[in-house]
Amino acid sequence: MSGITFRACGREAQRMFIAGQSGSGKTVFAVSILRRAPRCVYIDPKRENKPGFPVVAATRFLTTAEGEPRAALLAALFAQHGPRLTIQFGAAGHGQYRGTDAFHRAQAEAVAEAAFLHRNTLYAIDDAMGVLESSPPFWIGRILTEGRALGVGFLGIPQRPHRVPLTMISEAQHVVSFYLALAADVARMCEVNPGFAAAHDLATADPEKGIGGEFLWHVQGAKTVQRCAPLRGSEAAA
Ligand SMILES: Nc1ncnc2c1ncn2[C@@H]1O[C@H](COP(=O)(O)OP(=O)(O)O)[C@@H](O)[C@H]1O
Ligand SMILES: [Mg+2]
Repeated sequence: MSGITFRACGREAQRMFIAGQSGSGKTVFAVSILRRAPRCVYIDPKRENKPGFPVVAATRFLTTAEGEPRAALLAALFAQHGPRLTIQFGAAGHGQYRGTDAFHRAQAEAVAEAAFLHRNTLYAIDDAMGVLESSPPFWIGRILTEGRALGVGFLGIPQRPHRVPLTMISEAQHVVSFYLALAADVARMCEVNPGFAAAHDLATADPEKGIGGEFLWHVQGAKTVQRCAPLRGSEAAA
């Protein structure tokens, strides 16, 4: 695809952000990347499991002691279910978190801690608003800043890039955008690469025809973005 490669984990693991309006084609594109990753955890706040990987409850990480026990739990889950997992949030929270947004952040963090300490894993988080805004929680921050050296890659899917700190996006090796409706989001992406101005004119995914959306792909250091044709269903599944 496009001749661009994303190193999901292992030596020189990379970071990727995928922006785009709801329904534009982000998740299906992300899934095509996850299927090629040697090992990954896919955090699935919408509980759709579009990748079709074995599902694990995020609360298992919350209720496991911090530190190495969390990494050991992840290693055991990989051994039991295979190298790619979908991790789903509990809906309402429990204990101190019951009924609060902090519950989602805490679950994403507990899994990030496990991935960071386990190493050699891609940490992917879909619909990540609330987790990526302002300063990231501690372990997600460590994946962003130190993951590369430890073989822990990062894939983040923010719907509203204008609320994500610029440096968080601009320091990623790969930044992808599907259709964006809001001028503020296009402006933020243009701070990364002016070529993202075209994000406002892209076609979105078409479920009827079974094709994804058009997208723009920026590789760190490049002056221009690459405009990519929609993935067809079969490519997305390959
Ligand atoms: N590459 C693709 N091949 C076939 N259908 C696709 C593809 N990309 C998107 N679609 C269709 O469009 C819908 C929305 O895409 P999705 O990736 O879930 O959007 P987003 O994550 O941006 O909200 C999917 O449920 C699917 O029906
Ligand atoms: Mg999605």
